Amino acid sequence: MTVAKTTSDSKVSRRQFIGYAWAVAVIALFAQAAGALYQFVQPIVQAGGFGGKVNAGNVNEFAVDTVSTVREMHGFVSRVEPQGALTMSWTCTHLGCTVPWVESEKQFHCPCHGSLYNTKGEVTGGPAPRPLDLYPSEVVGDELVVDTSQTIQRTKFDQSQITPFPKGA
Ligand code: FES
Repeated sequence: MTVAKTTSDSKVSRRQFIGYAWAVAVIALFAQAAGALYQFVQPIVQAGGFGGKVNAGNVNEFAVDTVSTVREMHGFVSRVEPQGALTMSWTCTHLGCTVPWVESEKQFHCPCHGSLYNTKGEVTGGPAPRPLDLYPSEVVGDELVVDTSQTIQRTKFDQSQITPFPKGA
């Protein structure tokens, strides 16, 4: 006489299935929490954005005697001479308002308390205590790369503040 062999030993019982499901759910929950924590601790600023190195553009785009507003760098490229340009922050040195370049006035004119700055960022009027701050910058290939992770305070303009451009740019 043969006895039918049950296969219940090789199957997962209901209790085991619920146990596995719980384990998977708990692992998924921890993975999701770890992912959220990882994103939380990442720096807000991504490479290439404000707070890091920003490509302000091809040096040939900055004509002599022009001021270009570069939103990505929160500032300006002021091509004060053929040999190069100043890379300046748009933050007013009085109380921190954003200073626009006013083309019709050919100067930076802070809307908050009326500070005025010339194309070199020097104060020509109003309560600002010092010139617009500079960003360090360099030309890589033909691209002007501006380091917005830091600013350089100054008391006056001098020639060494100009980032040299390649000949013919
Ligand atoms: S914040 Fe610009 S003049 Fe006061």
